Amino acid sequence: MKIQVPATSANLGPGFDSCGIALAKYLVIEVIEPQATWEIIHHLGDEIPNDESNLLIQTALQVAPNIMPHQLRMISDIPLTRGLGSSSSVIVAGIELANRLANLNLSDEEKLKIATKIEGHPDNVAPAIFGDFVVACYDEEKDEVLSVKHYFPECDIIAYIPNTELLTKESRQVLPKTFNYQEAVKASAIANVMIGAVINGNLALAGQLMERDLFHEKYRAKLVPHLGKIRQICQQNQAFGCFLSGAGPTVLILAPKDCSEKIMLQLSLIDSHAQVEQVCIDREGVQVF
Ligand code: HSE
Repeated sequence: MKIQVPATSANLGPGFDSCGIALAKYLVIEVIEPQATWEIIHHLGDEIPNDESNLLIQTALQVAPNIMPHQLRMISDIPLTRGLGSSSSVIVAGIELANRLANLNLSDEEKLKIATKIEGHPDNVAPAIFGDFVVACYDEEKDEVLSVKHYFPECDIIAYIPNTELLTKESRQVLPKTFNYQEAVKASAIANVMIGAVINGNLALAGQLMERDLFHEKYRAKLVPHLGKIRQICQQNQAFGCFLSGAGPTVLILAPKDCSEKIMLQLSLIDSHAQVEQVCIDREGVQVF
């Protein structure tokens, strides 16, 4: 059995902690055979544990404490600590592993609720489960996660992936603890129109609104100094818009098909250590083969 989970990009600017898209880069977990203790064969470096302490197994055991240990193989082309949902993909894979090994028959909504409680917000885990574009909210008082999946319009998506790590925890520490009421109303109105424009297929409008986020990007600017330069390149080259992918440092650029080549060329001149590549939307979310 193989479990495949896509990368994700959260926020899309003003959709902070709520909106996300799934991207066609994948974490694949292969279940090899039962054995006495959990073991993960992987290529992801010494910092990623290969035993029961790995987030994948910890998540699976949280969902189904009695599952038999297995030997697993973990393969991933999702860059770590770059804002592309690598840990969310592991959480979703862990839930699916428990689901299959313990025959839990979980619905996607149940998986989303478990994953959101572990992650704290649904914006990465929801598209990792459902695929495509997902808007979701976590109501802790009602103990509910509500979500809507919708088709994300066709366009070129360019990822600017710096060669530096940024931990989500560090990137959340710079955010304000409170938010002025009028400012919140304005920030939420911007997000609402952004979502409406995506659903309408109007990426020109959606892209403009993605760049008007008031919730997080300005507070994170000092952690992601490349964002301003990328925004300038986007505006000079008729991109629809760009936004910090999740907590950063990756920036995603949405562009019409005939603009992306020259945008990519200019992006590659910002920092020769950064990766600049095109990514596609994953429409399916988590898959089991
Ligand atoms: N919405 C989250 C953030 C995504 O921006 O901090 C990363 O977990």
